[in-house]
Amino acid sequence: MPIREIATRPYHDQEPGTAGLRRKTAVFQQPHYLENFLQSIFNVEPALRDATLVIGGDGRYHNRKAIRTAIAMATANGVARVIVGQGGFLSTPAASHLIRLRNAAGGFVFTASHNPAGAEGDFGIKYSRAGGGQASTELTEQIFAHSRKLASYRIFEGPEIDIDRRGTVRLGATEIDIIDCVEDYAALMQSLFDFDRIRAWFKHGHRLRFDAMHAVTGPYAKQIFLDRLGAPADSVVNAIPLEDFGGGHPDPNLTYAKELVRAAMAKDAPDLCAASDGDGDRNLILGPRLFISPGDSLAMLAANLKLVPAYRDGLKGLARSMPTTRAVDRVARESGVEFHETPTGWKFFCNLLDAGRLTLCGEESFGTGSDHVREKDGLWAVLAWLNILATSGRSMSELAEAHWQHYGRHYFARHDYEALTQADGDKVMNGLAETLPGLIGQDFDGLAVHAADDFEYHDPVDGSVAMHQGLRIDFGDEARIVLRRSGTGTSGVTLRLYLERLETRPDELLRDTTTKLAPLAAIAERITHIAEYTGRKTPSTIT
Ligand code: G1P
Ligand code: ZN
Repeated sequence: MPIREIATRPYHDQEPGTAGLRRKTAVFQQPHYLENFLQSIFNVEPALRDATLVIGGDGRYHNRKAIRTAIAMATANGVARVIVGQGGFLSTPAASHLIRLRNAAGGFVFTASHNPAGAEGDFGIKYSRAGGGQASTELTEQIFAHSRKLASYRIFEGPEIDIDRRGTVRLGATEIDIIDCVEDYAALMQSLFDFDRIRAWFKHGHRLRFDAMHAVTGPYAKQIFLDRLGAPADSVVNAIPLEDFGGGHPDPNLTYAKELVRAAMAKDAPDLCAASDGDGDRNLILGPRLFISPGDSLAMLAANLKLVPAYRDGLKGLARSMPTTRAVDRVARESGVEFHETPTGWKFFCNLLDAGRLTLCGEESFGTGSDHVREKDGLWAVLAWLNILATSGRSMSELAEAHWQHYGRHYFARHDYEALTQADGDKVMNGLAETLPGLIGQDFDGLAVHAADDFEYHDPVDGSVAMHQGLRIDFGDEARIVLRRSGTGTSGVTLRLYLERLETRPDELLRDTTTKLAPLAAIAERITHIAEYTGRKTPSTIT
């Protein structure tokens, strides 16, 4: 048997974060580094033996090599069948769907999401379990602990599999299925949305511009928007996935999707401009001269989702991550739908989704999704908007303005302070944590602090408790400041400051976000002392 047992040592000195294991590409390129982690998964998850495993990635540099390693190790570890996206491609939501569709025991998606790729960039792996959701914190901790004592890994040494050719081949006792990466996912989308309505909308001359940012969604967008929905060819741009994402930063926000923002701000802007990230789970939504913040997008989708066939019968529940604006809370309150506030990270939604208590959920970090898979889903969000536009016959600005008139508008911004030293990060976080109790009742330029705490989540499904999920300062319905430590940064400490301000006065609904939030930003500095303690006068990024 050409299965070899190869000696390894503990490589992993730091726990994987919010979205799997993400490190510099060079770290992943060390001999045995990836192997060590994969073997730890196989050892901790015996359910993978004799079962089906889904493998794909976002196409970034090192993807193909990692996939070949994963296939060879799956074979050596007794996996019965491996399903691989042709060319090594599978978007994160498409992989989640495949795991569910094929009853797989798990999946590996090689991605560092929206982080830049290449030898100098980042690489990563998301590990999902049966059902298509990412591994729980406890399981991730177990894998990490196991990797610290692992002495050897198993790999099959045999012929190299051609992952560019569709079909089924055998490697040892394992069946390797190389499949079209788009087909099943596109069929799922067609089963959820009113494709006839959207097709007719395009026929009437309405326009979409979708920017795949040279990442994984290119082939998905082409098949769905162009082939299945008949959108004009120029509706999808940057559609060819490149190993370095064209040198770009495939993070769909106002900073990194510049070209798309320019198109949306132009006089002849398309009806909808949208983008997705490296692995296809995030989304950016823009109307003509209009940015829909993710928190607003979530709230507006919640208010209009009954126009989409799959959600016609109503929503089981709504949820948002804690730092996401409270816009969706108002929709939940008015419609009487069950509502949850969860910690950052998609896995917290998954328990609620599995328990049938949630239909639509989202995060301020450009993530929106529903119960159709167990990941956030960029193209799903774009299709949801298209369906609502096509069925309502209204424009983006009509929909947005009507929403704000009715519910009020939550102006929102996130200020990221990246690559801080551990000491500076601790100083800010610990400093604020200590002063929190004393803030209650204090008044800051007319805004009174109603509550201030370190967010702790009690999972209503399994009773687990997640502590220290971010510091919140609540000024009633009117405003909120949140500060938390990122779990996905790959160098130093990243702190995220979230600012939210509710506006209900009709003539104040269409103002500039930065201007509206400036007073709250000043209050945040008085409370958190970020600039003072870290010497950073301005954030690294504002989204
Ligand atoms: C970030 C986002 C979070 C998202 C995660 C994975 O995590 O803030 O909403 O779930 O990426 O895409 P963070 O770095 O803040 O821990
Ligand atoms: Zn992503």
